[in-house]
Amino acid sequence: MILISQRLRLESMQVADIPEVRAIELDVFPTPWPGNAYHRELTGNRSAHYLCLWSDGQVSAYGGLWAVGEEAHVTTIGVRRSEQGKGLGKVMFAALVNRAYWLSTNFVSLEVRPSNDVAIHLYETFGFKILGRRRGYYTDNGEDALVMWSDLIHAPAFKARFLRLAEALQVDGFGALPDPGWPGS
Ligand SMILES: CC(C)(COP(=O)(O)OP(=O)(O)OC[C@H]1O[C@@H](n2cnc3c(N)ncnc32)[C@H](O)[C@@H]1OP(=O)(O)O)[C@@H](O)C(=O)NCCC(=O)NCCS
Repeated sequence: MILISQRLRLESMQVADIPEVRAIELDVFPTPWPGNAYHRELTGNRSAHYLCLWSDGQVSAYGGLWAVGEEAHVTTIGVRRSEQGKGLGKVMFAALVNRAYWLSTNFVSLEVRPSNDVAIHLYETFGFKILGRRRGYYTDNGEDALVMWSDLIHAPAFKARFLRLAEALQVDGFGALPDPGWPGS
């Protein structure tokens, strides 16, 4: 259910956004990235693509992926605690999948804690499936990671579902959606 009432704007993450992103991260993640990680990602990793979702003059959500060959791997997604449960995670995840189309990848993957019901539900909403498990992946409590994958993102059923979800969103800067047909057809 989408409860968003504010005006939303999506932008690439800038170095100047890092302190705000980091504050959200420290609040919502049990194992936040090291302090310099976002700077390294934004300035030194050409595979990395990070986005911020702005509302009411603040970063309300952020997320990122690495695009390597056929795969877009979602590295992080976080929503400011006070803004959770209002549909912003869905907006950010849709933006990341849209980026995967722009970057001409074919699949999207990610890791998630088995205990993170909200995140798993979010990814399943987009048709992602649990296809693997990494034992003891999370260093704070030794929890396994579930590895979730999209289908081929150009497959008609996956893309139709994505377009239905993305077309319902009202976000400045979201950018063009993929063509409903097969690429190049
Ligand atoms: C996981 C996270 C990104 C989801 O973002 P969010 O803005 O809170 O989620 P949304 O409001 O977009 O809701 C997504 C779905 O989850 C459901 N949901 C959200 N919060 C919920 C809750 N507390 N209990 C049950 N369902 C919930 C929504 O109803 C929606 O499902 P629907 O489309 O079927 O209605 C966010 O909660 C977060 O940042 N968590 C901490 C960091 C984290 O765990 N990141 C993911 C790591 S893999």
